[in-house]
Amino acid sequence: MARIALIPGDGIGLEVVREARRVLEVVATAESLDLTLDDWDLGAERFLREGVSITDAEFQALSDDYDAILLGALGDPRVPTNQHAKDILLGMRFKLDLYVNYRPCALLSPDLSPLGSPPAELRLDIFRENTEGAYTGMGGSFKTGTPDEVSLEENIATRKGVERIIRAAFAFAESRGRSRVTLVDKANVQRFVGGLWRRVFEEVGSEYPDIDRDGMYVDAMAMDLVRRPGRYEVIVASNLFGDIISDLAAEVTGGLGLAPSANIHPGRHALFEPVHGSAPDIAGTERANPLGAIRCVGLLLDHLGHAEAGERVERSAVASFRAGCTTPDLGGEASTGDVGSWIVKHLETSYAHGD
Ligand SMILES: NC(=O)c1ccc[n+]([C@@H]2O[C@H](COP(=O)([O-])OP(=O)(O)OC[C@H]3O[C@@H](n4cnc5c(N)ncnc54)[C@H](O)[C@@H]3O)[C@@H](O)[C@H]2O)c1
Repeated sequence: MARIALIPGDGIGLEVVREARRVLEVVATAESLDLTLDDWDLGAERFLREGVSITDAEFQALSDDYDAILLGALGDPRVPTNQHAKDILLGMRFKLDLYVNYRPCALLSPDLSPLGSPPAELRLDIFRENTEGAYTGMGGSFKTGTPDEVSLEENIATRKGVERIIRAAFAFAESRGRSRVTLVDKANVQRFVGGLWRRVFEEVGSEYPDIDRDGMYVDAMAMDLVRRPGRYEVIVASNLFGDIISDLAAEVTGGLGLAPSANIHPGRHALFEPVHGSAPDIAGTERANPLGAIRCVGLLLDHLGHAEAGERVERSAVASFRAGCTTPDLGGEASTGDVGSWIVKHLETSYAHGD
């Protein structure tokens, strides 16, 4: 039995998680998986209603009682500080110690890429460190608002934090038969933090003699991902550089609406979420592309040990796009629910035919 927490959150999160849930239910029935899906009321509505974003007891329950979490998105214009989103998202990242942010970026069709002539096969698997770097909130400012203002924001790199994400990237590359892992940093300027990353990358990488390794400065990588993205396979980076490079890779491979992500502490916790935000500009209009969330279901099933079921979901998601059942962001006229229904039907048919 596996227990899954569904957190639709805000905006289009509600629409895309609704479709992801339908997909999960079809697979669970067809595969006789014993899944319990619990809906969690976390988001702006609850924050505005009760003044609470998430309690310690809720963090504890998410930590102790669930095998995986599926999140839509958090962010609402009625909460201009985005306090609830920070409490919930960063809270889970840090309290559950979800140190691997895995973002697979695969090009479903060449015409989806803004690049003129992308490689026929393009797949980038990005491993972003998720718990330290520039995201710890350590810093401060002095003489704030005066001409003498001084502001500091720390960039934290621990040996343990750097080593575990690099190990996760190499282990992934080995398990999936990938031949190259690339470290992205700015070691020419950030000598101390960059030096630690480079040393650990060499040490860990030398344990994988069959996998090529190279290092790229983040500015050169930004150019190269546009110029020759096909050169790269698995990419590992700090929190900040991984954040930027993964958005670039998502765009090069078709855009935010399609991209899934996983936040994982291997062996302990896993949270899956589409890369996009709550898109208040289209929330409630049924124009949100649900593919990012539905592809998260594929990752979630894989994580729970149902790799074939996960691949089946991915194939059905790709098939919906190839059949022209797409939302307006991809040039189609289908609604969020239409795309979900198409994928549900495709899955049911493929199970019925034993495909
Ligand atoms: N992980 C998260 O929950 C997360 C991530 C990013 C942003 N946010 C929050 O979301 C809110 C909006 O942020 P933003 O506008 O910068 O980013 P966004 O990703 O929500 O939207 C950016 C643009 O992409 C479009 N878009 C996004 N997802 C789409 C989808 N699935 N289908 C079709 N179009 C889609 C939107 O309509 C918008 O024009 C903010 O409150 C922000 O803090 C949350």
